[in-house]
Amino acid sequence: MGSTQVLEEHDRTARAEGVIDLRSDTVTRPTQAMRKAMAEAEVGDDVYGEDPTVNRLEALAASMFGREAALLVPTGTMGNQIAIKVHTRPGQEIICEERAHILDWEMGMPALFSGCILRTLRAEDGILTWPEISKKIAAHSYARAQTGLIELENTHNMAGGTITPVEVMEEICDRAHDRAISVHLDGARIFNAAVALKQPVGDVTRKFDSVMFCLSKGLGAPVGSMLVGSRTFIDRARSIRKALGGGMRQAGILAAAGIIGLEQLVTRLDQDHANARFLAEALSQIPRLTVRPEMVKTNIVIFDVTHTEINSNELLGRLRRRGLIASAVSDTIVRLVTHMDVSRSDCEQAVEIIRSVVSG
Ligand SMILES: Cc1ncc(COP(=O)(O)O)c(C=O)c1O
Repeated sequence: MGSTQVLEEHDRTARAEGVIDLRSDTVTRPTQAMRKAMAEAEVGDDVYGEDPTVNRLEALAASMFGREAALLVPTGTMGNQIAIKVHTRPGQEIICEERAHILDWEMGMPALFSGCILRTLRAEDGILTWPEISKKIAAHSYARAQTGLIELENTHNMAGGTITPVEVMEEICDRAHDRAISVHLDGARIFNAAVALKQPVGDVTRKFDSVMFCLSKGLGAPVGSMLVGSRTFIDRARSIRKALGGGMRQAGILAAAGIIGLEQLVTRLDQDHANARFLAEALSQIPRLTVRPEMVKTNIVIFDVTHTEINSNELLGRLRRRGLIASAVSDTIVRLVTHMDVSRSDCEQAVEIIRSVVSG
């Protein structure tokens, strides 16, 4: 069954409630092919390394990223926090962008679990560069907490799905490695970046010491994220996953959906990107909304409602009453995320709903 046919079948069930849900790409429901693969998955106890479907998924992820090994984890948050634990020692600093997911949305875990603090810097478009990062690296001194890790997020969620170019990431990795500092990629949506860049994901990420990516976002799986890296990194990550209670047993049920995501649903991400660009262009025509369509490179659109005289939450309430769900990034910034459960015609309707709320 081709990916178009899979999705046509999927579309009929996904929008049964008549609500257009643009809050996040995490809201997708598993496709029929995923449900079938999950029902039929061959399983074993993954804590003993005996689940053949998990092993197949991990081998597939490692080969797509050109790495020695991969590890299935329940969530992106757990994946990022395991990577931080492996790369750092308590009392160190982690350099990241000011709106990084690891800072704002992971429950203070770098401090709680790894004993590290975050040294942030702001990049308006979410794209950090080596000249800026290098200014934040702690000087070697007995009085300064040392930099243990640099963390990048690509695509950058809160900056609106922006892409850090490969050469910028590679310069950061090379220069950081010169100073014996590891670099972790929060690549929750790295497949969106790779598809937009028209490059294999392995080429885009080859210099990182570790990469986390999510199966449960644009790739449509119900649960799961992955870490990829060297055999040594993944061996350490596996025991930290267990310490966090993330050793799952017949996890092949979940891995089966992840395999479908990786094998069938990567190339269709450009439809989500086209829908996001459509939304941004159309919203930019609505007076009193501030949108920058040229910034929309992947599946996330953010717009500013400052001039509408209502705040984000008020706007979201009014949209919801008309059947559109979105999310607020701040009092003035609203976020829309496209995914496989919304079509172009849903996006057209979404624009009309937003237009009527903003102009009414
Ligand atoms: C950039 C980024 N990193 C990490 C995560 C964490 O993923 P999870 O929700 O699976 O913990 C998210 C989730 O939205 C994300 O957007």
